Amino acid sequence: MRLDKFLAENGLGSRAQVKQVLKKGLVLVNGRAEKSPKAQIDERTDEIVVSGQKLNYEHFVYYLLNKPQGVISATEDERHQTVLDLLDETARRKAVFPVGRLDIDTHGLLLLTNNGKLAHAMLSPKRHVAKVYHAQIAGMMDEQDAERFAAGIKLKDFSCQPSRLEILEVSQKANSSRVRITISEGKFHQVKRMVQACGKEVTDLQRVSMGPLKLDPELALGAYRRLTSEELESLRIFKVQL
Ligand code: URA
Repeated sequence: MRLDKFLAENGLGSRAQVKQVLKKGLVLVNGRAEKSPKAQIDERTDEIVVSGQKLNYEHFVYYLLNKPQGVISATEDERHQTVLDLLDETARRKAVFPVGRLDIDTHGLLLLTNNGKLAHAMLSPKRHVAKVYHAQIAGMMDEQDAERFAAGIKLKDFSCQPSRLEILEVSQKANSSRVRITISEGKFHQVKRMVQACGKEVTDLQRVSMGPLKLDPELALGAYRRLTSEELESLRIFKVQL
């Protein structure tokens, strides 16, 4: 790959900034100063040192985002802010994309990566990856609803697989409830539609986990961080190269 692309992807700044760093002779390729942004390198075998620091090339990157409401989980959109707009330039340059979708008004855990095979594995209907949501409901959900969830709710266009509804809190006075819902599919508006099928309405939806990944309570809405090495290890269950 081109040396300037490699340096930009490794957080050295924009291509223009990278050019300046190169011009100053601060970049060594296999021990020799390289000043040309166009120089071709092999990122797997060449040793690249910038101002005395060796750079290790990361092909794949993984970010855990606490998606806020009002932002769409797409890579581009003409009208709305997208989850990519929340990332810094280094992350964006890695061409990451969201693994699956959350509605514009849903908040919580979203994994962003440029590892297509991992995304494919995590989203494959055959894998039944569990997604856990906390929902605020207008209306009081009850054990009968939980039984309907467990049996598999029939919607107009498809029958949901058995899922889990746990009632965390019910307020008779406010005619509302707080629930935890676990599904292993990811159909369009699935949670909202399942709740609607029980005659109630989701007023707030937060995803708290997806497979082995959990929402980090330290992450503010709109904030993101790289996966820890433990989190990355936990993704080995998908048996793809990480
Ligand atoms: N189910 C929904 O209804 N919306 C989401 O964003 C995710 C699951």
